[in-house]
Amino acid sequence: MPAQPSPGHSDSHQTAARAEFRWALFVVGVIGLLLCIIAFTSLHWVLMPTQRVETVNPATLHLVGEFTEENLGSAVEPDGSVTVRIVGQQYTFMPPCILVPDKTPVRFRVTSADVIHGFIIADTNVNVMLEPGYISNFQATFRKPAMHVMPCHEFCGVGHAGMWARVKVIDKADFFRQAQNRRRLSCVQ
Ligand code: CUA
Repeated sequence: MPAQPSPGHSDSHQTAARAEFRWALFVVGVIGLLLCIIAFTSLHWVLMPTQRVETVNPATLHLVGEFTEENLGSAVEPDGSVTVRIVGQQYTFMPPCILVPDKTPVRFRVTSADVIHGFIIADTNVNVMLEPGYISNFQATFRKPAMHVMPCHEFCGVGHAGMWARVKVIDKADFFRQAQNRRRLSCVQ
């Protein structure tokens, strides 16, 4: 005698089919949501202004351009703003003592001549990487006269632990007075 489906059989079959359908809808919904997120973030980035990446040839840093030795240190630009140019290389920063004014926005332009170095100024929020081939460009303002240490914080070779410099923040008026007599300032003795 053929097995008769029990009275509840077609019911449970329909329940299972409904559950499967609900889960399929849920999965389609999740996929749809993810596609929307991808579309939105792609559009968002496309509509952003292009990134400002400045490159420089690390092999000719010391020969041409803004990172030659006589251009390193702090400078007062024709418009009165302050720019500091620094080169990091195994295992020193040039110049090793950086002189900056207090209460003034200071533009830093820093690069590496060889490998990746870390650039951090203690007791401030300045913390960037120096990559050969690229210029790290940022602004910082120092509140009051102080001496900050500036250790390399990216392992860059056997001399890494000895790679550090100092940042000397001095009174604004004093800084601009010194800048009248010299094209580039530093606190290297
Ligand atoms: Cu330079 Cu570590």
